[in-house]
Amino acid sequence: MDGGVRERNRRLLGLLGEWYGGARRALPWRETREPYEIWVSEVILQQTQVARGEGFYRRFLARFPDVERLAEAEWSEMLEVWRGLGYYQRARNMLRCARIIVEEYGGVFPDEERALRALPGIGPYTSAALLSFAFGHDVPAIDTNLNRIFQRVCGVPQSSVRVFAEGLFSELRDGVEGDFSFADSRGLNSALMDLGSQLCRAKSPRCDHCPLRGECHFARHVSQEEREGEGRKKSAKRKSYGDGGGLPVIHVGIGCIHRDGNYLLGKRSEQKGGNWEFPGGKVEKGESVRAALKREIQEEVGVEVAVRPPFLVTSSSDAEFEWRLHFCRCQILDGTIQPLEHDELAWVPKSELASRGMPKTNDMAVQKLEKMK
Ligand code: ADE
Repeated sequence: MDGGVRERNRRLLGLLGEWYGGARRALPWRETREPYEIWVSEVILQQTQVARGEGFYRRFLARFPDVERLAEAEWSEMLEVWRGLGYYQRARNMLRCARIIVEEYGGVFPDEERALRALPGIGPYTSAALLSFAFGHDVPAIDTNLNRIFQRVCGVPQSSVRVFAEGLFSELRDGVEGDFSFADSRGLNSALMDLGSQLCRAKSPRCDHCPLRGECHFARHVSQEEREGEGRKKSAKRKSYGDGGGLPVIHVGIGCIHRDGNYLLGKRSEQKGGNWEFPGGKVEKGESVRAALKREIQEEVGVEVAVRPPFLVTSSSDAEFEWRLHFCRCQILDGTIQPLEHDELAWVPKSELASRGMPKTNDMAVQKLEKMK
């Protein structure tokens, strides 16, 4: 991971820890590390608000205190406890899962993702939550809260959230100084969930109170009025920064640097997905696409380039942002290429660009480049 990203992750952890020390919610499932109890809480919370889930959680454990007791229950008994919670498939899966844990695992939940995911009703989120809250593995439990926070704070699309989250969680191993330090991923996952439910809410986010506001793409670039618009109906017309209508727009300049029919690609580190890409990056507020590309290419590749007007502009959206990619052909004016932010750089013949496993969002640009002289 590059130094800038590490520094930022450590700042985020420090700020979040300081806030969490004073703001954390006391929730009954945070008092336990018993995998059965964590699993019960997570299944209940899959489709139930925390405030409502607490009472059900206590009643459930009073009736079924361990997995053996649950495994021997009839559906009618389960129904007595579950009535009112809805989504009865959850309860059916719980009974099936409890019986498997008892019959095939001797009553002990496995602490391994693949085995957990094979159990009824355990998907990627619930398996990660168990690994973190019960077993203390340094994994992010990416629910809707964490998804939203990472997209907003880092200004990244949904597809990059996991990479960012894993980078942040990997810092736990080295420890982070502060009033409150996360001992492991349990605290960090809980802090992010609390931040998502109390401040970084889907509707009417409270950025002014957020400990991460100074580091947050969303808080810095989206005005108060627009943030409040996040809470209004999706169909309502909203202004985005820079453009009219729709989600906030993030403009990204993508530099297709060419020389003798070859294009310069950089290989991202394995932590960032390991794929090949054109150099480039986000356009800062008040910056032109051309200036952003000149700056990004200098920072990433160490050369000065001439930037042509975009030959293609594409647009795609995720839950938080519209991503507008401006593909520009560029030529080196001065300097020698160096991999300042990539693992390596390579000049790739245009006929081989399509087979390099670049992000799918580049497909149309690659097709166009193949036809250019
Ligand atoms: N929502 C889902 N799991 C949760 C947890 N462990 N704590 C708070 N909210 C949650």
